[in-house]
Amino acid sequence: LTQTKPLVVAIDGYSSTGKSTIAKGLAANLGLIYVDSGAMYRAVTLFAIRNKFIDADGKVAKKELVDALSEIEISFTFNSSTGKSETMLNGENVEAEIRTPAVAAKVSEISAISEVRTFLVRKQKMMGQKGGIVMDGRDIGTVVFPDALVKIFTTATDDIRARRRYDELQSKGDTSSFEEVKANLLHRDRLDESRSDSPLKQAEDAILLDNSELSLEEQLAWAEQLVRERAGL
Ligand code: DC
Repeated sequence: LTQTKPLVVAIDGYSSTGKSTIAKGLAANLGLIYVDSGAMYRAVTLFAIRNKFIDADGKVAKKELVDALSEIEISFTFNSSTGKSETMLNGENVEAEIRTPAVAAKVSEISAISEVRTFLVRKQKMMGQKGGIVMDGRDIGTVVFPDALVKIFTTATDDIRARRRYDELQSKGDTSSFEEVKANLLHRDRLDESRSDSPLKQAEDAILLDNSELSLEEQLAWAEQLVRERAGL
C-alpha cells in the first residue's frame, strides 16, 4: 500500500520527555527535516525579554509584544561542526540563549498568547506543506498537523523528567538546584495544559509513549518502526 498523505510526524508531550531526542533520531534515520517548535516559542520569549516587553516584575506588555510580532524573523540553520540545527532570531544565532532559565521561566506565559500562537502556527504549517518533516511541541498533533501520518504523545514520571532536565542544565554550567528545575518543569506543564488556546493534550489518534523505563535506542527503534509501517517505507 502506498501512502498518499505527506509524511508528517507529530510528536507532542510534557517537558523533558525526550520528544526532541526521538524527533531528531527519526529525522536522521529517515531523512526527514526536524523542526523544534518549542524553539520558536522560546525565540519569541527572548525577543520579548530583550525588547523590554517583560518588566522587572515579570509582567508582560502583551499588546506591545503582539504589535511587534511582525518584526520577528525565525529560521533554523544547520551547524555542520555539531551536526545540529540551531535557532536564528532576526539573523542572530540564539540557540544557547533560548535554553536559559530566564527564557524557560517566561515561555509558557508567552506561548499562551493567542496572537503569538497564530503567528507561529502559520509558519509551522508552511514548513510542513511538502511533508518530509518531523515536528515536536505541544499542539502539533492537535492543531498544527491534525492530519499527520503519525502522532506520538510522550510521557515519563516527574522525577525522571526533572532529572533529565537537571542533568542537561548542569552540563551547560547552570547552577539551579534539582528542586528548582523540577518546580519550573511542573509549573510549565500546568500552564501548558491549562491554557485556553491549544492546551497540551494527547490527540485522540496519537499513540502514547511512556519512556520512563525505555532506553533511547528502544524508543527510537519503536518510533522508527511505527513510521515505516504507516509510510510504507
Ligand atoms: O519544548 P520546549 O520545552 O522547548 O517548549 C517550550 C515552551 O513552549 C513550552 O513550555 C510550551 C511552549 N510550546 C507550545 O506552547 N507549543 C508548542 N508547539 C511548543 C512549545
